[in-house]
Amino acid sequence: MSLINTLVNGHQGGLKHEGMTPMQKIALRFVVLGILYYGVSAIEGMMMRVVAITPVPLIDYSRFFSVMKAHPMVGFLGSTYMIVFGAFLFVVPFLMKKPIFSLKLANATWMLIGGGTFIMWLAGFLFSYAPLHTLYWPLPADLSQFAIIGELFYVVGVTLIMVGTVLYSYNIFKTIMYTPEGWDKQPSMELFKSAIGFTGLTNFFKKKKTEHLVDLPVAAISIGTIVVGLNAVVIMTAGVLLLIFLFGAAFGFNLETTWVDALLYKNIFSWGLDLIADGLALIFVVGTWYLLATMITGKTLFMQNVARAALFVEMVVSWAVWSYHLMSDQGQSDSLKVISGEVVTALELVTLGLAVYITLVTLVRARPLKMTNELKFLLGGLLGFMLAVPAGLIQAELGMNQDLHNTQWFIGAHVHVAIIVGLTMTLYSAIYFLLPVLTNGVKLYSQKLATAHFWLHIVGGIGMGAFMGMAGIDGMLRRSIYVDGEYNTYMIPAGICGCLLLLAFFAFLINVVMTVGVKGLIGIYSPATMNTRECVPAQQDV
Ligand code: HEM
Repeated sequence: MSLINTLVNGHQGGLKHEGMTPMQKIALRFVVLGILYYGVSAIEGMMMRVVAITPVPLIDYSRFFSVMKAHPMVGFLGSTYMIVFGAFLFVVPFLMKKPIFSLKLANATWMLIGGGTFIMWLAGFLFSYAPLHTLYWPLPADLSQFAIIGELFYVVGVTLIMVGTVLYSYNIFKTIMYTPEGWDKQPSMELFKSAIGFTGLTNFFKKKKTEHLVDLPVAAISIGTIVVGLNAVVIMTAGVLLLIFLFGAAFGFNLETTWVDALLYKNIFSWGLDLIADGLALIFVVGTWYLLATMITGKTLFMQNVARAALFVEMVVSWAVWSYHLMSDQGQSDSLKVISGEVVTALELVTLGLAVYITLVTLVRARPLKMTNELKFLLGGLLGFMLAVPAGLIQAELGMNQDLHNTQWFIGAHVHVAIIVGLTMTLYSAIYFLLPVLTNGVKLYSQKLATAHFWLHIVGGIGMGAFMGMAGIDGMLRRSIYVDGEYNTYMIPAGICGCLLLLAFFAFLINVVMTVGVKGLIGIYSPATMNTRECVPAQQDV
């Protein structure tokens, strides 16, 4: 009875949504949807994990590949984008002590990304739409394998997500630069320069340093926002191209080999796509590390100026590293492979290494620290990138790239460790940290579930990546189905680790639901009764 009571009303009375500001509600709307979409992506991942061990009649080839098409997009766009955007739309005005530019735009953003992800997912679920984009040329406008309706659902879904992304970017920069009613005129241009790290960079060469107008985490958020904004433009352009090709094919005009240069398209598409990896996974994550390290310790960041300059450098590096996607492409020029694919890519080890160092030193200098959930998950996130970045750099060498790029090594030891351990653990750290701020001090239901969440997630994430990596070194290709259990020595332990990840997710989900209560969860999506653009209620002391 008391369990049911907690489930409905939450722990110690749960979340009282009537006392929440619109901004708190909006941030939680993003985060809750993002958590649910992570669950969808994890379940899809487990479906593929099972097929990697043994064929399953219910998941035939076409279902398997449509799951593979939807799974990363739901994970990145439906989950990671949602959680990151929700957190940052709250954090930027919160840190700047300034109202958000537009609550309406913020609300439109979660609806567009949430709805767009669902429509995109339906393309696979209803129509088995499954062209795996990065392998495809000509453009995936293949009406002989996939129904036009599936493609339309997919393009419409992704477009809505990208429109939401553009609105998010606009709202963030407007919030930084605009002058709220009743305020003195704000120096918009100076704020902009400080936000994109330009002031930090020029300070490096000046004796008399210019004062920073925005905090370092806001600068990191802005830099990452520029990069995901650019990504949105490229992906939307690819969507328009797809539509042109599709309608051409539907009406009997085959544009496939005549209209767009294949190599040029692949370069532009890889450039845009890679901005997700760098903009989101590296710049946003680094910004979140800095934010969490300063919040957890209550101290300023170690080597502030270097950190700002390194972020600016990372932004420029992120625009120049796309060629490592095309290292095995015979048409790609050798100089691009070497300069962009190898040399510039190696700089990521420097910028990321610096970020790990700065975050760790900030934490170490503030000892003794209590090992809270947010600190544990932050350390897990740092470890994730310390493992995944070198695993990626090994592939940024021409010979190794040819051996590893299309194997389980790339997708396991590099991609999944970066995402599941590095990125997701950092996001969990932010969620554990922000939970009391967003809910006006609601207490976590169970510390035991939070501890189980941590251990199951970190062991599952590193373990799954490691076994996939070993399979890759042994020659197991990615995006392939092996029906005779050839790689089961690795795939069975990888499957067990996948189960740990799923258990971790359910431990977290149960903990969150029991903490805020079903009533509180539903209340988050009801209109806010408080009429304020402030982040937290006036009396809350944070
Ligand atoms: C949490 C549990 C997860 C499990 C068990 C899992 C499992 C898998 C499996 C089995 C594959 C297919 C590998 C192959 O044979 O090529 C895969 C692919 C992939 N996953 Fe996951 N995954 C998980 C979470 C995620 C998340 C959260 C993301 C993104 C945010 C993600 C991104 C990807 C990407 C980018 C691919 C490659 C898809 C392609 O080749 O087109 N995964 N995953």
